[in-house]
Amino acid sequence: MNQPHPATDAFAAAQRYLPESAPPVDAKGTPSSNLSRCPAGLSRPSSGSMETSAAPVPQTTEAGRRAVVTGACGFIGSHLVDRLLSQGWKVEAIDNFDPFYSRAIKDSNCHAHRSYPGYRLHEGDIGDAAVLDAAMNHGCDVLFHLAAKAGVRPSIADPEGFMATNVTGTQRVLEAARRYRVPQVIFASSSSVYGTNPRVPWSEDDAVLRPISPYAGSKVSAELLGHIYSHLYGIRFIALRFFTVYGPRQRPDLAIHTFTRALLRDEPIPCYGDGTTRRDYTYVSDVVDGIMAAAAYTGDGYSIFNLGNDRTVTLNKLVERLAAALGVTPRIKRLPEQAGDVPQTWANLEKSRRLLGYAPQIGLEEGLTRFATWFRAMPAQPPTA
Ligand SMILES: NC(=O)c1ccc[n+]([C@@H]2O[C@H](COP(=O)([O-])OP(=O)(O)OC[C@H]3O[C@@H](n4cnc5c(N)ncnc54)[C@H](O)[C@@H]3O)[C@@H](O)[C@H]2O)c1
Repeated sequence: MNQPHPATDAFAAAQRYLPESAPPVDAKGTPSSNLSRCPAGLSRPSSGSMETSAAPVPQTTEAGRRAVVTGACGFIGSHLVDRLLSQGWKVEAIDNFDPFYSRAIKDSNCHAHRSYPGYRLHEGDIGDAAVLDAAMNHGCDVLFHLAAKAGVRPSIADPEGFMATNVTGTQRVLEAARRYRVPQVIFASSSSVYGTNPRVPWSEDDAVLRPISPYAGSKVSAELLGHIYSHLYGIRFIALRFFTVYGPRQRPDLAIHTFTRALLRDEPIPCYGDGTTRRDYTYVSDVVDGIMAAAAYTGDGYSIFNLGNDRTVTLNKLVERLAAALGVTPRIKRLPEQAGDVPQTWANLEKSRRLLGYAPQIGLEEGLTRFATWFRAMPAQPPTA
């Protein structure tokens, strides 16, 4: 069973401290009587500790809730924006088109979004307060923070860069959430935080996180920053631990995408280790369902939820099923195990099912078939870097 999180009381206290009609707060969380009040439920700027000032915030209308989405042109972020726009949300998108993979792919991910009048793209870094101000000062009901440097292996090559974006960047995003009095922040965390935790399937309550890469450590740190902002300022912070997400637009560095490219060129698949490592593969629309459920969640002020598929599949089995979906015979090139790769991932979904109503719909075979169909239908493979 899931224990009540100690932040619950603190959250309630912070909510009492910052009632909806309270004035904006300064960097210490002290209400400032010099700043104008705005109607209940609205986000608005405060003078805060940041140097930039913000324009008055328009009232959230009945027509649509307002979202700010960081990392909005990436793989998962662009699917989330699809869903938000289709449901009538207004979306302020932030993305710096990080060069980790091709800009052409990200441009294509968000191409359709640009035709929505309720969509605005702010190209820039989450570390830049002016970029955050420009997105936030239209009001924000829910902030979806997905921007990150992603990937275990690249984080070993660039630990400082990962900490700068994933930890300091998250701190800046949370600071903006505080200044604009955003009530709800949804954070894209990762199954990698569990690291080598031997107790599978992994539960959110597992006390011992054993991250083994800078990427995983950066996600643990960002979850903890969220706890601080929830405790001090009454922001509801929900960390969603995604488990190996796949589907159309998947990042080109991830296994299913890399393997598909190789299989269709009749090249050997680079497989690290002996093929017995296991992953809980989660289809992207299921993850978006979970994100939307978290946006509507009104429980504890600080919560963590697994978003996985509750199945763990060996690398060998994945290759077999992917090759079947593509109608080809795989050839495998065995490579040594990679530092930082965990031996297995497996989500316990009891809490997500119970509190979010999360219920993944797409099994691996169906998901791989959909991925293969999407991949084959792409007019041309954009360069990956
Ligand atoms: N894909 C997965 O399997 C998976 C698993 C666990 C967690 N996650 C997390 O989910 C989130 C989205 O992952 P994804 O697979 O869609 O990755 P992605 O790289 O496709 O998307 C991330 C987006 O963030 C942007 N970005 C990076 N640094 C930025 C910065 N400093 N300022 C503004 N934008 C920035 C990138 O340009 C990119 O478009 C990430 O936080 C990732 O850590 C993903």
